[in-house]
Amino acid sequence: MSKVKLAVIADIHHYSEKLGNTGRAYELRSGSDQKCLAETGAVVDSAFSMFAESDIDAVLIVGDITNDGERASHEEILRKMQELDKKKPVYLITSTHDWCSDNHARRFAGEDVFTDVETLSGEQVRDWYASFGEKTLLSSFDTPQGFTSRSFLLGDNVRLLAINDDCNGEGGKSGYDENHLSWVYSQLEEAKAKGQYVIAMEHHLLLHNVGSLINKGQSIADNFGMASKFADKGLRLMFVGHSHMQRTTEFISENGNKITQVNVGSLCGYPAPVTYVTIEDGEAEIKVDYLRGFTYNGKEYGASFFEKHTSDVMYNLLNSAVSDKKDFHERLLAQGIRIKSFDKLYPVIKKGANILLKMRVGTAGRLINFFTFGKGIDKKSVKAIKNELLLPLVIKVFLCVFDGSKTAKDFNEETKKVVFDAGTLFERIVKKLPLKANKKAGLLKTAKQISDIAGELVYPALPDNEYCVISLK
Ligand SMILES: [Fe+2]
Ligand SMILES: [Fe+2]
Repeated sequence: MSKVKLAVIADIHHYSEKLGNTGRAYELRSGSDQKCLAETGAVVDSAFSMFAESDIDAVLIVGDITNDGERASHEEILRKMQELDKKKPVYLITSTHDWCSDNHARRFAGEDVFTDVETLSGEQVRDWYASFGEKTLLSSFDTPQGFTSRSFLLGDNVRLLAINDDCNGEGGKSGYDENHLSWVYSQLEEAKAKGQYVIAMEHHLLLHNVGSLINKGQSIADNFGMASKFADKGLRLMFVGHSHMQRTTEFISENGNKITQVNVGSLCGYPAPVTYVTIEDGEAEIKVDYLRGFTYNGKEYGASFFEKHTSDVMYNLLNSAVSDKKDFHERLLAQGIRIKSFDKLYPVIKKGANILLKMRVGTAGRLINFFTFGKGIDKKSVKAIKNELLLPLVIKVFLCVFDGSKTAKDFNEETKKVVFDAGTLFERIVKKLPLKANKKAGLLKTAKQISDIAGELVYPALPDNEYCVISLK
């Protein structure tokens, strides 16, 4: 039986440096984003040269290829992909950021942000990337929105469904209309008849991985309904991107059929993941690896670059809150946060940020327990880590969102308990509040969603987010 080994990456968001890579406006933009901007070309070069030299059979790219659909970014990334394609075939889907669905393409010069950036239309995006995988194309489907889903044969017996879900769901959401769905079903049936195993990729989420509070808006329309349909029709493995979070999630339909979603994080953001999948004898082995580094402007950067870049989004904001009012306000605006009466509130924010920067876990735990009559956070656990600074712990938990809780693997049991207790505190408080039943139910729903996130971050559900084996039968 043949074996197929693939490297899967997502959300490159390539940003052409022609759009600006210095100056205050650029620094603010770059400093507000979990993923990097100017360095994307160098990151891609590093990953692509590694792929070209490796034993993989092909590369899969799960959409959001450019930062915001800028023509200059497309021109550069297309060239890089065409070069890689000569050595390892590239299969890809594009997505909403590739045709700038939110009209948000910008360039940066000095203090100023400009919106006069040429972008590609959806049709141009479709045409520019249409030739990838052409030699192994089995079937295609054009959506009413002007995009194309395709199926390809990989090796002897693996069928890849590269599905474009842009705006094809109910109400213009990402997803699938009836005709599109019928095409997917036809591919699954045909593959079954021919003894082929099927893997698929779509850009937006099929399943909620961290929790519905974060993932609902990132998912396709009627996502669990679609997951059930796909699972019942025999699809076992779906790769998605979009959330920039690396995490593997299982779902079982009412009829008892399982589908696994591998959400591939952004290659250009922490933890710069590359997901390797080896398909053999009807099993897919999933192994997540991380980019070791890259060279940018002649300087070497290690994997720690990505962690620092993501952590700095929070650190720099808090530090500026304490030390520089103007800088802090500009950083907030760069993140799209507008605070009414900023001038009046600033002294309070400054004080709060100052406390947060210096506070230790023990002090925070004691404070919470004082107001919750000792029931907020497990006292023994707080005591065990009382001298740790609070902020680095908060940032480590933040990193867990993106790295499939890889960071939490190094937490001791006391740290996990403290984070879990803090994350579930709101729900426990709401349960005790003397509110009217309907008001309480609404509040409880949100509180429960927050608890779910806390639970998933420190005690992630199986399968393991870095390694698992999935049956494609
Ligand atoms: Fe993205
Ligand atoms: Fe996206």
